[in-house]
Amino acid sequence: MSFDLLVPAPRSATTATGSFLLRPGTGLDGEPHLTRIVRRLLGMDLPDSATGEVSVRVAPGEPESYRLAVSEQGIEIEAGDEAGVRHAVQTLRQLIGPQAYRVAGKKEVGVPCGEVIDRPAVEWRGGMLDVARHFLTKRTVLKYVDLLAMHRMNRLHLHLTDDQGWRIESRSFPEISRLATHRPETIVGHLYDGRGYDGIPHGGYYTLDDLAEISAYARERGIIVVPEIDLPGHTSALLAAFPELGTGEIGVQRAWGVKSATIKPVPRSVKRVCELLDELLEVIDTPYVHLGGDECVTRDWVGDPEIAAHRESLGLATEGELHGWFLREVAAHLATRGKRAVMWDEAYQTGGTLPDTIVMGWRGDAIAQRAAADGFDVVRAPIYPTYLDYDQSELGSEPVTIGGPITLADAASFDVTPDAWPAGERAGVLGGQWQAWGEYIPHERHLDYMTFPRACAIAEALWSGRPADYDDLVRRLSGGHLARLEAAGCEYRPLAGPHPWQESGTGGRARSASGMRWSLEQRREWSSSIPESAVADEPEAF
Ligand code: ACM
Repeated sequence: MSFDLLVPAPRSATTATGSFLLRPGTGLDGEPHLTRIVRRLLGMDLPDSATGEVSVRVAPGEPESYRLAVSEQGIEIEAGDEAGVRHAVQTLRQLIGPQAYRVAGKKEVGVPCGEVIDRPAVEWRGGMLDVARHFLTKRTVLKYVDLLAMHRMNRLHLHLTDDQGWRIESRSFPEISRLATHRPETIVGHLYDGRGYDGIPHGGYYTLDDLAEISAYARERGIIVVPEIDLPGHTSALLAAFPELGTGEIGVQRAWGVKSATIKPVPRSVKRVCELLDELLEVIDTPYVHLGGDECVTRDWVGDPEIAAHRESLGLATEGELHGWFLREVAAHLATRGKRAVMWDEAYQTGGTLPDTIVMGWRGDAIAQRAAADGFDVVRAPIYPTYLDYDQSELGSEPVTIGGPITLADAASFDVTPDAWPAGERAGVLGGQWQAWGEYIPHERHLDYMTFPRACAIAEALWSGRPADYDDLVRRLSGGHLARLEAAGCEYRPLAGPHPWQESGTGGRARSASGMRWSLEQRREWSSSIPESAVADEPEAF
């Protein structure tokens, strides 16, 4: 496939005439740790050869940079680091075309001649996957890693815990797996539609061995797993195992929304959470741990004698400050293990952050900008346009989602470091990510539908550091990239609308009449205003 069909588009690509024939048996020259990467990602048997027609080397340079040159004589990869080698091989796979994504049956493939010189604009290029609302199998997560790597992304943020399920084995506390990982049934359709419950038990969790495997698999593909344990709200499920540590409505939830349950912000809860984090850190190889901090309902903190006494002993005036105290305590524990905390932007408002905490801005642009101005490293994750749980169009055939729409064109417009921000604030932006929230994504096939191709647009906006050229992206998607996704086994949404079997229908996936909709005005206002409060007095259904 030609050099003008790459996604994300590289910084520079030039084409030449002719092609190189790559086949099992072509010699590969380079240091063993680099040739291993090439073989693994290409999935081709390329034997070592000092005079190999394919060569790979690292000459220390810009992080993640690479040069890939294809001539009729061979293929040269030269990269600034190992991450750059991986990106070069991903670009090579795209040039080979769909065949490169099939796991068996690769024969002789022609690679067009030309050269790519490339590096990313931002360091943090991620996808968030919610495996808490609906459990997704380990194999689905591994496939998601492959799809991230295909788009030269480098972070997988795994939202592992929420009110509807805790997805992590605990060997120290086996009651978690027994009580917190499943629910008897799930609400049908949109939360606002009042269509009852499906009567089907749902659940699952990853063993610590599974998580070690996911982490290693991702690392081999240049991706750091960022595990999230959402605290102190969004903990109804965990509290099924530890009711003595909770306030509000305890137990694995069957429906969506902001629930009243919280883990009590007191020292004994901090201790328990740190024990759970220590187990997780034994198996996930990561410098970052996400502690959540979002949508915490403090209604029941006011009248709880233990919480009130603790707040007073700390000399704190508000529940919001106590939210901040709790998160700081857990982040300080992570720091003793050499880990950096990541938190949703509420924690920035309540003072839950340590100076090196990464603030993940989801409630619009303005709060992210404010955090960056305050000197925090910021990861951009604004609902509009990075939340991929929203409709992809206004078509009546779209399946139920939380609301919408956020179209492919919207996703392409994502501006991770807007020119309107002062330079100092832009410099605080580590990068950004898309979010695949799982309330309305019950399984892998629907995950593919909701994620791709919008994720391609966000990957491109992150790689280049500016909005993607929508028309050109559509040209590259229809001219080549969708065929690559298909060969990779990804059931993406066709550009014209869903396949008949992906449509809304009349059953559990029926489109909601009442889901949230965005007007342009709402979008503008929402992205430019700072949310007033960071903790909520009351639960909320949405
Ligand atoms: C979020 O969407 N509650 C981060």
